[in-house]
Amino acid sequence: MICLGVETSCDETALALVQDGRLVCEKMASQERLHAVFGGVVPELASREHLRKGVLLYRALLKESGIAPADIGCVAVARGPGLLGSLLVGMNLAKGLSLGLNARLVGVNHLHAHLMAASLEREIPFPALGLLISGGHTHLYLIRSHIEFELLGRTLDDAAGEALDKAAKMVNLPYPGGKFVDQLGRLGVADESLFPRPLTGVPGLDFSFSGLKTSVARYVSQHPGLRLESLPGEDVSQLAAMPGLADFCASINWTVADTLRIKTQRALTAHGRVRSLIVAGGVAANSVIRRVMLELCGKFGVEPVFPSMTLCTDNAAMIANLGWMLFRDGYCHGQDLEAIPRGRVVPFDYHA
Ligand code: KG4
Ligand code: ZN
Repeated sequence: MICLGVETSCDETALALVQDGRLVCEKMASQERLHAVFGGVVPELASREHLRKGVLLYRALLKESGIAPADIGCVAVARGPGLLGSLLVGMNLAKGLSLGLNARLVGVNHLHAHLMAASLEREIPFPALGLLISGGHTHLYLIRSHIEFELLGRTLDDAAGEALDKAAKMVNLPYPGGKFVDQLGRLGVADESLFPRPLTGVPGLDFSFSGLKTSVARYVSQHPGLRLESLPGEDVSQLAAMPGLADFCASINWTVADTLRIKTQRALTAHGRVRSLIVAGGVAANSVIRRVMLELCGKFGVEPVFPSMTLCTDNAAMIANLGWMLFRDGYCHGQDLEAIPRGRVVPFDYHA
């Protein structure tokens, strides 16, 4: 069975085809350059871009894959959480396609899709502990199967990706800055006592990254020499010569990674029977976080499940993948499917 996935929850317009758990083809249009000028995603522009690109990508997807529309059995769509306007554009496209193709509609939780993305590449041993780290979310889950997610902890304020992106912005690194902080940090040496690791001293599995943002802002204002005078290009390696900048980035990477490690270690200790650790979402592409989590897996004897880089950041393959699994198990939605904006819990309201 072939499932078409539609992803428009933030600033990537993406469509993909998954056949029986295997990725056939994906087409994606990134809006990164458009929003970079503003240093963050402008919701209205994002919606307009999704509207411009959606049908074009659908046509390109069919052409490249050679799949006939009649062979598409279900249309899966990211129904939230995300930017409401962006979600509405993608959902309208998915609803129209499901009607036109006479295919079933399946609304997919974007966060669960991130966590299950690796199943396109390998089998995931359950029960699993899932760490979802993206621009908008920092969540820890106990995952018993692809439909059983128990939220163990979450950020009380900013997400890990938000802290990385804002830190990058403070020194004028390009947007979104997480990957540049990662790249530059690899060329520096971390000072492990430079920044606080928020909420690690109290019990529990919740996170907080707003305090880190504040202390990074204070540090930059005390060290104005760290600020780049103009926006650099995509290759930031030559900036390693700038005094202190690479070390600053290394320190931020270490602080975020170690904060995540402390809570994940706590969760592994509390839920001793998990067989794997899934680390997913855009921030899971971070090299320090990957290394730290790999070490943790070795220590606890659990299998590391890290999606490849292209499956970490927002994509439609993960939406088609989870949509295909849900449809296979008999779950779908009607045309009354609703979008769920950021901050609201995505309900499990499938029709059997
Ligand atoms: O999952 P994602 O693509 O979109 C959301 O759903 O938020 O995650 C985007 C986040 C951004 O904060 C971006 O800076 C971050 O992922 N990111 C990274 C890296 N690559 C992307 N953060 C740290 N290191 C990276 N290599
Ligand atoms: Zn995402």
